[in-house]
Amino acid sequence: MKSHWEQEAANWIAWARTAGHDVYWSYRDPFFELVPPPGRATLEIGCGEGRVCRDLASRGHLVTGIDQSLSLLRAAASAHPEGTYAIADASALPFDDGSFDLVVAYNSLMDMEDMPGAVREAERVLAPGGAFCVCITNPIADLARWNGNGWTLERPYIQSGRFEGTYTRDGLTMTFKGWTHPLSVYSRALEAAGLRIEALREPVPPIRRDDLLPMFVMFRAAR
Ligand SMILES: C[S@@+](CC[C@H](N)C(=O)[O-])C[C@H]1O[C@@H](n2cnc3c(N)ncnc32)[C@H](O)[C@@H]1O
Repeated sequence: MKSHWEQEAANWIAWARTAGHDVYWSYRDPFFELVPPPGRATLEIGCGEGRVCRDLASRGHLVTGIDQSLSLLRAAASAHPEGTYAIADASALPFDDGSFDLVVAYNSLMDMEDMPGAVREAERVLAPGGAFCVCITNPIADLARWNGNGWTLERPYIQSGRFEGTYTRDGLTMTFKGWTHPLSVYSRALEAAGLRIEALREPVPPIRRDDLLPMFVMFRAAR
């Protein structure tokens, strides 16, 4: 996955920084409703070019962002010089135990090779009482296809598997690659790490009210 995001860095920067281009702009508010008020230190794992970190900073968070792609991190750091950005694998974080009171993973867990390892590390770097706030693509929306008459699934929902898709819109192209896991795989990873889900949402913003399936699952887990 590392080389995929490095390869797609220029495409992702254009895609993510064109205001209104993707659905981030209509889903970020419901996500930030789940995020606790700023504390001592906030970490985003898989920060990409840094738009979530910048939004967290504008809400008062003292933010550190980590990512595996050097090109994306450089873009994040130059757009937000006050932030701290470091190259790291989310499943081997270069931080001491209990360093953060909030860890955020916005649309990154499903892109990670070792998702349970990343969840374990999120728990380790959280202080007692800290929160892990996550947005993932809804696995059922990733797998479901409308065939004109009804829905079909690309493979059984309950099996984890790879996804890949290339999208072109308004002159921008982006290839996404990652995994689709059933929700129970995420909840077992949290359970194994000792994190407890305390709020879970499938928001449908007003502009997406005709969607038949919610695009994202968002939750807050407590350490
Ligand atoms: C869809 S992008 C999301 C970026 C950002 N959170 C946002 O919403 O704009 C997923 C990011 O996860 C990063 N990523 C994937 N696997 C990772 C890993 N094991 N450790 C750190 N970052 C990873 C990718 O490099 C990519 O920047």
